[in-house]
Amino acid sequence: MGEVVVGISGASGAAYGVRLVQFLRSKDIPVRLVVTNAGEITLKHECNTTKEELASSTGAILEEDKNIGAKSASGSANIDAVVLCPCSGTTLGKLGAGIGDNLITRSAIVALKERRKLIIVPREAPYATVHLENMHKLSQWGAVVIPASPGFYNHPKTIEDMVDFVVARVLDHIGTEHTLGQRWTGEEIE
Ligand SMILES: Cc1cc2nc3c(=O)[nH]c(=O)nc-3n(C[C@H](O)[C@H](O)[C@H](O)COP(=O)(O)O)c2cc1C
Repeated sequence: MGEVVVGISGASGAAYGVRLVQFLRSKDIPVRLVVTNAGEITLKHECNTTKEELASSTGAILEEDKNIGAKSASGSANIDAVVLCPCSGTTLGKLGAGIGDNLITRSAIVALKERRKLIIVPREAPYATVHLENMHKLSQWGAVVIPASPGFYNHPKTIEDMVDFVVARVLDHIGTEHTLGQRWTGEEIE
């Protein structure tokens, strides 16, 4: 499998990105980690960590969001998927307008032009019409939009269970085998 770019932008839910990086690295999948300035704030505030700590504890390759020439934005690199997890309304808006002015947005735009997997995990409540319109556009352009909305049908007990629910859906779409959460069998309801 090629590399996976994980972008953490400044929406609430940094824990989803952290868990995704940890899981991919636990399977030895190469990860390029890009965190926006606002993402650094939510990482610290919500997870009490930094992008440097996340990269060093997992072995992810840390790239600077302002380094527009980094490998994550390369059209010729062996990159299988770009995942923006979580994805803020600002980053969503840039993508909807085709703007790639930092590494996270440029990597996503490159994924669209190269027809790579682009997975977007937006979080906002409520969504403004502009957020919904941008999600609609991106979905039409081939991106997979996985909202940061855990299901409750598996009876989650902890925040980690709820985080894993969303990360499991992302892994399904990256194409990574996992055993996070229980899969619905169809026999749960009598
Ligand atoms: C603690 C905190 C939580 C935030 N939560 C959200 C959120 O859930 N969704 C969102 O779209 N923006 C949220 N924001 C605002 C974004 O961080 C802001 O729009 C920023 O410009 C996003 O930039 P980025 O996309 O480059 O990371 C939050 C900001 C802070 C400080």
